Amino acid sequence: MSEDSAAAAPTHIPVMLAECIDALSVRADGTYLDGTFGRGGHARVLIAKLGPHGRLLLMDRDPAAVAAARQEFGADARVAIRHGSFADLGDWNATQAGLDGVLLDLGVSSPQLDDAARGFSFQADAPLDMRMDPTQGESAAQFLAASTEARITEVLWQFGEERHARRIARAIVERRRDTPIERTGELADLIAQTIGRREPGKHPATRSFQALRIAVNDELGALESGLQGALARLRPGGRLVVLSFHSLEDRIVKRFIRAESTQPPARRGLPPAPEVTLRLKPIGAARSPSPQEIIRNPRARSAVLRVAERLP
Ligand SMILES: C[S@@+](CC[C@H](N)C(=O)[O-])C[C@H]1O[C@@H](n2cnc3c(N)ncnc32)[C@H](O)[C@@H]1O
Repeated sequence: MSEDSAAAAPTHIPVMLAECIDALSVRADGTYLDGTFGRGGHARVLIAKLGPHGRLLLMDRDPAAVAAARQEFGADARVAIRHGSFADLGDWNATQAGLDGVLLDLGVSSPQLDDAARGFSFQADAPLDMRMDPTQGESAAQFLAASTEARITEVLWQFGEERHARRIARAIVERRRDTPIERTGELADLIAQTIGRREPGKHPATRSFQALRIAVNDELGALESGLQGALARLRPGGRLVVLSFHSLEDRIVKRFIRAESTQPPARRGLPPAPEVTLRLKPIGAARSPSPQEIIRNPRARSAVLRVAERLP
């Protein structure tokens, strides 16, 4: 898909849209950051709640998403747009005066998954890229060419919870001795030949593709930094709203909110630790999409929404 057609078409169905916007508790004159613009499904509703003095800061690490943001919102004086990772949101001058809400809708967008040329999908043969920002870092093909067997095993195991990580990594290393693995189809076929079809209804490469994507984009590292950056910029009463799509991400968000909202537990045999200043208050429990939303948009099925408020 070209950037232009991607920008023109509303190709991503926003997940838990009403819940996310409610959770941001938008004030008409507030300043909000959408760190994962995608195709603007959330941003569009958020900006409709802002008055003339409200501000909306938009980020995405994908240049195609940023092109879509510029096309739709570039002329709106209330909006600022930046190409980059939300991991670095604190480096953006526009955030320095403070934020009343930060939205992170993690993972990949439908245009990224559906554009075979991006290399995220094993459903279509394409160059094995998987970078959300193709202007930097190494592609999945480069990662597989340059990494040790132990590193490939670790990535497949940790980020894909792939039980056959060792066997797949060995097969990759053996194959690359003859020919580099440069296409999604080659990798998907190699994994299928190596481990067979073990999980009904699931392609054998599903876990490995997820793992490579997480590694190539340093998704978990970016999330850790982004949460810290958001906390540092949120004003008292400001809301942190995070939508995650797999358990590794959700665990990071859950632990972060817990660590910032509870006193460290007393250790047996040690004097009580001094009280720390709590910086967040959780708002409600973790939430999932309704069954109706999952029927309408199956890509929402694994979403978990967590919300917290910055304490004074
Ligand atoms: C699920 S989509 C967001 C969809 C968006 N809320 C919408 O409704 O259109 C995730 C987006 O976040 C972007 N993204 C993922 N990690 C990022 C990061 N660390 N920094 C900035 N953007 C990121 C991806 O490029 C993708 O466009």
